[in-house]
Amino acid sequence: MKNERLLTLAIETSCDETAAAVLRGGRTALSNVIASQIDIHRVYGGVVPEIASRCHLEQVNAVVDRALADAGIRFGDVDLIGVTQGPGLVGALLVGLATAKAYALALNKPIVGVHHIKAHICAAYIEHATLKPPFLALVVSGGHTDLVRVCGYNAYTVLGRTRDDAAGEAFDKAARALGLPYPGGPAIDHAARDGNPGAVVFKRALLEKDSLDFSFSGVKTGVRNHLNTEKQAGRSVNIADIAASFQQSVVEVIVAKTVRAAERCGETKVVMAGGVAANSRLRAALEEACRERGLCLYRPSPPLCTDNAAMVGAAAYFKYAEQGADGLDLDAFPNLPL
Ligand code: KG4
Ligand code: ZN
Repeated sequence: MKNERLLTLAIETSCDETAAAVLRGGRTALSNVIASQIDIHRVYGGVVPEIASRCHLEQVNAVVDRALADAGIRFGDVDLIGVTQGPGLVGALLVGLATAKAYALALNKPIVGVHHIKAHICAAYIEHATLKPPFLALVVSGGHTDLVRVCGYNAYTVLGRTRDDAAGEAFDKAARALGLPYPGGPAIDHAARDGNPGAVVFKRALLEKDSLDFSFSGVKTGVRNHLNTEKQAGRSVNIADIAASFQQSVVEVIVAKTVRAAERCGETKVVMAGGVAANSRLRAALEEACRERGLCLYRPSPPLCTDNAAMVGAAAYFKYAEQGADGLDLDAFPNLPL
């Protein structure tokens, strides 16, 4: 039974953001606090799992306190605890799970484990009050590139996925090759604004005719090969042009497959989700493609696309409403399937 006034305390620690949020019902975020570790991991050029776990441990209780304070509630007001149980870094996930279980036990409240990618999709419910399944979701994050048919609040069918690198991973690796800082996605997005997207033509991996799968390792290698060729020829490179050209090739493939998936399964609503959904070029290109075909695009604002706990609260609410609570034996699953 849905309860629009249910207060959920949500915790997210699957990667490098320690996050907590309070939701009223499944769509109203009363607070959404994020302690980012990006500055700590940047010197290593990527997330160091051991450091991530330690930082979560140091931050998580203070982040939860802030989330409650920002929402103007106390521990005693919380009705439900939601927490990410996978996929993600196992040590990082365990910190969030242990914390959530401790609160659930101490407060004698139900706990719900949430799938991180389903949570990314549920982020769209927060800013789009009327959005209801069915719809097609494009999930583009650091670890996933999936086209998902969402037939109910807890009914997900994967139509296509990446066969190698995830979109975010490709952005991060291409950025590293270009000497841009971690995380590479925002750095490429920024650099590309001054570049010519047609300067270098990287291969668009559309795979077999009609395939809804993705492959991004080729375009990432294409960037590396281009840089090597230019270096060997003694030519200087324009980083903005390469960033824009790389971004354009990734965006074109994602847009083409998303539109193809929506048309194939007859969905007229398309939801963007995951960190790469914050990309300005992808947002603009998918908006245009959807408009041309009469599809309605739902784009959460960038802070709700990248990792946050409000999305975990939304997913926890809709899971609890249909499936009830989990036990305190809830475990972490680094490779939890959709
Ligand atoms: O969803 P997310 O925050 O974490 C995961 O679940 O992986 O996604 C992180 C990924 C990183 O690869 C990051 O480089 C990418 O999202 N990203 C972007 C942008 N902002 C974040 N990629 C392209 N353009 C952006 N503006
Ligand atoms: Zn994520």
